[in-house]
Amino acid sequence: MRLLGLTGGIASGKSTIAQMLREDGVPVIDADLLAREVVEPWGPAIDRIRARWPDCVGPDGRLDRARLGAHVFDRPEELAALEAIVHPLIEAEARRRADALAREGRPLAFYEAALIFEKELERGLDGVLLAAVSPEIQLARVQARDGLSESDARKRLAAQLPLEEKLRRARYVVWTDGPIEQTRGRVLDLLRTLRRPESPAHPEEPK
Ligand SMILES: Nc1ncnc2c1ncn2[C@@H]1O[C@H](COP(=O)(O)OP(=O)(O)O)[C@@H](O)[C@H]1O
Ligand SMILES: [Mg+2]
Repeated sequence: MRLLGLTGGIASGKSTIAQMLREDGVPVIDADLLAREVVEPWGPAIDRIRARWPDCVGPDGRLDRARLGAHVFDRPEELAALEAIVHPLIEAEARRRADALAREGRPLAFYEAALIFEKELERGLDGVLLAAVSPEIQLARVQARDGLSESDARKRLAAQLPLEEKLRRARYVVWTDGPIEQTRGRVLDLLRTLRRPESPAHPEEPK
């Protein structure tokens, strides 16, 4: 099975593309969903979170997100400790799911995650598809979707890896600047390319 990453900045169109892939029958493993699952009551991250921040887990195994948020907010070391607990669990679960899809005989699947390049997860993938959006359109989408002021939206975007670097590291790129139907057309074109029998496992195709 070929496992491709699907990444991009905030509001770049990752989840929109993921939905189009699913509608065409291609499974997409969602890192955001796994991140929520590992902290469900008595989920795999809970014991370790409780060991470090005992006041954040109730007797029912439920995570108190507000308290945990207060521990890690503006404290890079605490945040790094939390990520060191949660990220490996997410990645292990993603790997388990990918293995299960491969055993089912699926030829192709995607792993949708915002931080594939930042966390250097490319090694475990057979290429990465970047959802790319021009900065000004991205700014407008973040404001519209998340109800942020322009300056807060700019701050969020500034915290991300620059688009140029992501473009350099991606094997495939789908620009989402246009209307949704244009994005869908590009996704379906890409799937046709990937499904061609002669399509090699590690193609060096033009972006
Ligand atoms: N051509 C397009 N392709 C993808 N998303 C678009 C497009 N035009 C507008 N959008 C909107 O951009 C917003 C962000 O898309 P989303 O898929 O949620 O991004 P992400 O998952 O990367 O944060 C959504 O509200 C989506 O409807
Ligand atoms: Mg999303």
